[in-house]
Amino acid sequence: MMTDQYLDQVAAPAIYAANLNLIKLWAAKEKLADGRAFSAFRDIEICTLDAMLAMTFGTSAPSGTQIQVEKSAHFRSSDKCHSDDGNKKNGNVFTFPLVDVDVLTESFSKIQRSVDWTTSTLFPSLVGWFMRRNPILIRRFRNIHAFIHQSIDASIQHLGEQGAVPRVGTDHIVFREKALSEEEDRPPRFHSSAVRDEIFGFILFGNHTTRTTLSWAVKQIADNQIAQSRLREALKASFPSAMKQGRVPTASEIQSARVPYLDATIEEILRLQPIVEVGRSTVHDTPVLGRVIPKGTIVLTLNQGAGVMYPLYDTNTHNSHSSQPAKRWESYGTIDEDTAHIFAPERWLTMSENHAEGHVFNPTACYCLAFGAGVRGCWGRRLAYLQIRLFVAMIVWSYEFQQCPESLSGYQAVEGIVRVPDNCFVRLKTLSAREP
Ligand code: HEM
Repeated sequence: MMTDQYLDQVAAPAIYAANLNLIKLWAAKEKLADGRAFSAFRDIEICTLDAMLAMTFGTSAPSGTQIQVEKSAHFRSSDKCHSDDGNKKNGNVFTFPLVDVDVLTESFSKIQRSVDWTTSTLFPSLVGWFMRRNPILIRRFRNIHAFIHQSIDASIQHLGEQGAVPRVGTDHIVFREKALSEEEDRPPRFHSSAVRDEIFGFILFGNHTTRTTLSWAVKQIADNQIAQSRLREALKASFPSAMKQGRVPTASEIQSARVPYLDATIEEILRLQPIVEVGRSTVHDTPVLGRVIPKGTIVLTLNQGAGVMYPLYDTNTHNSHSSQPAKRWESYGTIDEDTAHIFAPERWLTMSENHAEGHVFNPTACYCLAFGAGVRGCWGRRLAYLQIRLFVAMIVWSYEFQQCPESLSGYQAVEGIVRVPDNCFVRLKTLSAREP
């Protein structure tokens, strides 16, 4: 499914439409918040879910953000909107009423939250045991399973038509299962739990990771004002007709344009806030930095702290004989250990040969393991990059992200299956929110 065709024709329009809805929702919220910060986590989560649902199920998928946009028209009269100006702990924050969205989106969102919860507690097995027996959660799974069942039926019907080709995610899965069943000379098992769980996992884990990365992205963009302005200038220079027409650049404009500073910003977001710990089990005794890690040890890469933001110890003087060849490996540049903690997209840019093109994006200027590596590296990496690229370009084009009060900022996180920020607030100033 991660083909150019699927990404360009199905995923990109789905992501783009969801992002436009988010821009509309934030336009309404920004007006009311009037310079105050508001919570963005659920908005981002529902926006990325909209995109995942649309690229998996097609037009039958609901859009939670669209529902929020429609309901946000009533915010003005709602007495549940309130400002916590006086509350020192929260800083200057504007709270919007929680808007109920459709059952499918809400079910995914709540299950996602329970995954965060289960994996961040001290007693994951025990909490997992209770979760599996929780009638509310069971009902949410049933809602999702019922929707998947209907969508598979729709895909079977679609692919049964003369000359039909797979379009959305469920079509591809039905198409593959049909081909496999013919190869194995058995009836197709379109409604098996394996097929259902594959679809469920694609949406849940694809969304879980992307929503979390984008939640870190808005914080990093707000906290790095110079980089944000440089990015906006680079976008303006790259999309002159969108500028002239006062509209958001289209999905294909954003996908096809070469914007080195955009690529560099994305890489820097991923480098500083990797959300998944990559794990490996050693298959034989493995020397790393002069220490032998015995066969069968589970090794987890840290995603914060020593070794990521600052040196673990002085690796130059340490007994690291075995690591020297890797250190000298010419394919990758190094990260200056003294500035490793600083958000600096520039570190991913290098001057082009003969200086004709100016600075170009160099993906090997530094290193970043946000998607893992090798045969078990992230399967959804291309989709994730597409989603981050469209999101960052569209929101930075449409809004100035101002720094939030200190109490709403900070990089504390809940470490579970992914690393979720404790606080995800935005303080916006509308620049241009017109549709193409
Ligand atoms: C910013 C978003 C994402 C991040 C940071 C991320 C990160 C990762 C990481 C670190 C791994 C483990 C890699 C390793 O062990 O070497 C992984 C595996 C995986 N990811 Fe992602 N991911 C993201 C988005 C997605 C999306 C959108 C999908 C699919 C819709 C996806 C599907 C998968 C799958 C199926 C694996 C398991 C691969 C295997 O074990 O063979 N990921 N991801």
